[in-house]
Amino acid sequence: MPRLTYLGHAAFTLEGSKARIVIDPFLSGNPLATARPEEIKVDYVLLTHGHNDHLGDGIEIAKANNATIVAPNELAIYCAGQGTEIHPMHIGGAHDFPFGRVKLTIAHHGSVAPDGTYTGNPCGFLITMDGKTLYHPGDTGLFYDMKLIGQMNSIDLAVLPIGDNFTMGIDDAAKAAEFLQAGMYIPMHFKTFDVIDVEPEEFVKKVQSGGQKARVLPIGDSLEY
Ligand code: NI
Ligand code: MN
Repeated sequence: MPRLTYLGHAAFTLEGSKARIVIDPFLSGNPLATARPEEIKVDYVLLTHGHNDHLGDGIEIAKANNATIVAPNELAIYCAGQGTEIHPMHIGGAHDFPFGRVKLTIAHHGSVAPDGTYTGNPCGFLITMDGKTLYHPGDTGLFYDMKLIGQMNSIDLAVLPIGDNFTMGIDDAAKAAEFLQAGMYIPMHFKTFDVIDVEPEEFVKKVQSGGQKARVLPIGDSLEY
């Protein structure tokens, strides 16, 4: 069973039988993060978009671990320019990595690197490792194609942004859960900044009242799925 650990904001590590992955490792500069970038030991770094709170320490972590960055093409090329190994992909495309399969999904958001370089379209990830599928939608507003994503994939675990302002808020994230029909939901992208200071328990209650499973995963805690 893959093991998911919450690092805060939209950052998670994922450990499967064949590889360790980190997604959107925003640690330096995140007041709520408890892990330091030097502590992250991974084979792959998956990045949904170039914003500082997602690209985060991704380049430094990739270099320190000789890890490969998997990201939308423009963002991947930006990272290669900073000296990292990359595997560029794009929306709608899937690839079988040694550890499992990654498919890029749409995300309604923006993407630019901290130095102002345009980094293309943002994405979400469907990651299948050890027979289990995780959906990390990145930063996005609610979109009706989540219904299609739910129909075409048996999602075991979905992490959903709930903080509002930059992404879906709680009501829209609960509607996303209706569309996705995943085995379990974990809220993310809340409380890091004042404008996303929402109560994750409200999201959990809304999802549960719709007959599905949800829980808050505290920063630093892990879950097998
Ligand atoms: Ni963003
Ligand atoms: Mn963000």
